Amino acid sequence: MTNPYRPFKAEILSVLPQTGIDFTFRLAADIKVESGQFVEVSLPGVGEAPISVSDFGPGWIEMTIRRVGKLTNVIHTLTPGGSLFIRGPYGKGFPVDRFTGRDLIIAAGGTGLAPVKSIVRRFYKNTAELKSLTLLAGFKSPSDVLFRDEINIWQSCINVQITVDGDDTGEWKGRVGLITKLISGLPKIDVQNTEVIIVGPPVMMKFASQEFFKKGIPEDRVWVSFERKMCCGLGKCGHCKIDDTYVCLEGPVFNYTAAAQLTD
Ligand SMILES: Cc1cc2nc3c(=O)[nH]c(=O)nc-3n(C[C@H](O)[C@H](O)[C@H](O)COP(=O)(O)OP(=O)(O)OC[C@H]3O[C@@H](n4cnc5c(N)ncnc54)[C@H](O)[C@@H]3O)c2cc1C
Ligand code: FES
Repeated sequence: MTNPYRPFKAEILSVLPQTGIDFTFRLAADIKVESGQFVEVSLPGVGEAPISVSDFGPGWIEMTIRRVGKLTNVIHTLTPGGSLFIRGPYGKGFPVDRFTGRDLIIAAGGTGLAPVKSIVRRFYKNTAELKSLTLLAGFKSPSDVLFRDEINIWQSCINVQITVDGDDTGEWKGRVGLITKLISGLPKIDVQNTEVIIVGPPVMMKFASQEFFKKGIPEDRVWVSFERKMCCGLGKCGHCKIDDTYVCLEGPVFNYTAAAQLTD
């Protein structure tokens, strides 16, 4: 019998700093992942944490990891040729097939862009799969902008709008203001044919969803992803439980109608 808690060792193929505290790690891993799922990442004797898969392909996965504590501090010292331990993927991802033929609007706040990056990558290359794709992303400051190279490429094919809360560089030529301003500024939305993904800090998801509802988007066309304290990732320990819902199993991606019922 296989032990679902047993991680496997995955070699680090590359490390790409996105900001001073967010690095993208590409690992050799032959696992089948859906956009929005997460893996449990560990280092023996250091710790374990859930991390979203930010992109994936044949034989590799990428994770964009923010340096915030015990485990991630050590992970940020690792270089290509080193390794991490992985188990998963876990959880339910985004219902990507449901988006086919529709207008898809993605609103991402800060590191919330990581769990949706693979969706943007898939659809910007296959624009015929969707009616249209709009990416709205908000960051605290220009120094916090993730995936700059990819954003430059995406901008040539799809509607990408980036905003920052404030300019800490004095050199930012783009928009300044909250992401809610980008949502309210969207031209008329075909509400019968639009699906919305919102990922970011809880306060951003709350106000962003309200802006979409003001535009007439029904709640059941909105998809959100929850970052919640998790431990096993397998529905066993109860760390992630809200009422009767195991976020690690039934999430982290939820339809807004289900997410609205989840209160601590
Ligand atoms: C589904 C899911 C997906 C996620 N995806 C990502 C992702 O893609 N990228 C990513 O970077 N993170 C992601 N996270 C978050 C990540 O799992 C956490 O940040 C994790 O805790 C990092 O582990 P750590 O040991 O480095 O930090 P920890 O040491 O556990 O610290 C975590 C937080 O606690 C604070 N803290 C630590 N010690 C103390 C203390 N003594 N007193 C007060 N505060 C303290 C730290 O400042 C930090 O904010 C995800 C989480 C979930 C649930
Ligand atoms: S993280 Fe253990 S039950 Fe969800």
